[in-house]
Amino acid sequence: MTDRAEAIAVENLHKRFGPLEVLKGVSLTAREGDVIAIIGGSGSGKSTFLRCINMLELPSAGTVTIHGEQIAMKKDGRGGLMPADRRQVQRIRSRLGMVFQSFNLWQHMTILQNVIEAPVHVLGVARAEAIERAETILRRVGLFEKRDAYPAFLSGGQQQRAAIARALAVQPHVMLFDEPTSALDPELVGEVLSVIGDLAKEKRTMILVTHEMKFARNVANHIVFLANGVIEEQGPPEEIFGAPKSERLKKFISSIH
Ligand SMILES: Nc1ncnc2c1ncn2[C@@H]1O[C@H](COP(=O)(O)OP(=O)(O)OP(=O)(O)O)[C@@H](O)[C@H]1O
Ligand SMILES: [Mg+2]
Repeated sequence: MTDRAEAIAVENLHKRFGPLEVLKGVSLTAREGDVIAIIGGSGSGKSTFLRCINMLELPSAGTVTIHGEQIAMKKDGRGGLMPADRRQVQRIRSRLGMVFQSFNLWQHMTILQNVIEAPVHVLGVARAEAIERAETILRRVGLFEKRDAYPAFLSGGQQQRAAIARALAVQPHVMLFDEPTSALDPELVGEVLSVIGDLAKEKRTMILVTHEMKFARNVANHIVFLANGVIEEQGPPEEIFGAPKSERLKKFISSIH
């Protein structure tokens, strides 16, 4: 299906850290409802790619377009780029739900306060409405009973589900996940993957960096294999995992079984 609207279009993205070119021209389009899993070895640039999408890292070259709006960049005078309009970046970023490996909840706020913070203070949603929506979301991720608890009193899996609830609360155009289960004890991984799996079934647009290959295979409709800063191979999960073409991908896949 190619008639679904573009949710994210990244064109020819480059990122260099001093002499190290981490991304060497990566282009990727996610359409509404796509679940794209990015896989690849450590240091291949997966996190950097996600961070460039929401401008937590500034690309050295290339464009990022979200929901049809290209992020305006200008030269920073040091060979790189910077946002031409910081408010545009803030506005676009406010509708991207980002979930990191480390949960990044605000420790001094309850779970409910964490979830309503951006809707109330960034998006200007009325407090009562934000609370109502937050409670619905917390119910969905199984945390309604924990809404008045502080993050430190939750398990890792609960904290990560709270972080997902917080990301959902901004009604994101796209959800970005960077190894959301890699900091969790093995017995807590399943509950978080199950929440993400439900979001995938709802056809939420997601880009997911993960080393959970079985999960990637089950939930993603498109897999991107990043190696040495380029997309070495991409395609539907059956092909990537069942019939990899490039030697690098074959080696990567055999290394994880
Ligand atoms: N702020 C930074 N300054 C300098 N180098 C960096 C910075 N961030 C990342 N790098 C380098 O960029 C490369 C890619 O890092 P990145 O974190 O994107 O890899 P990754 O694919 O996410 O790896 P992992 O699977 O271990 O999370 C690495 O060599 C890393 O050391
Ligand atoms: Mg990473």
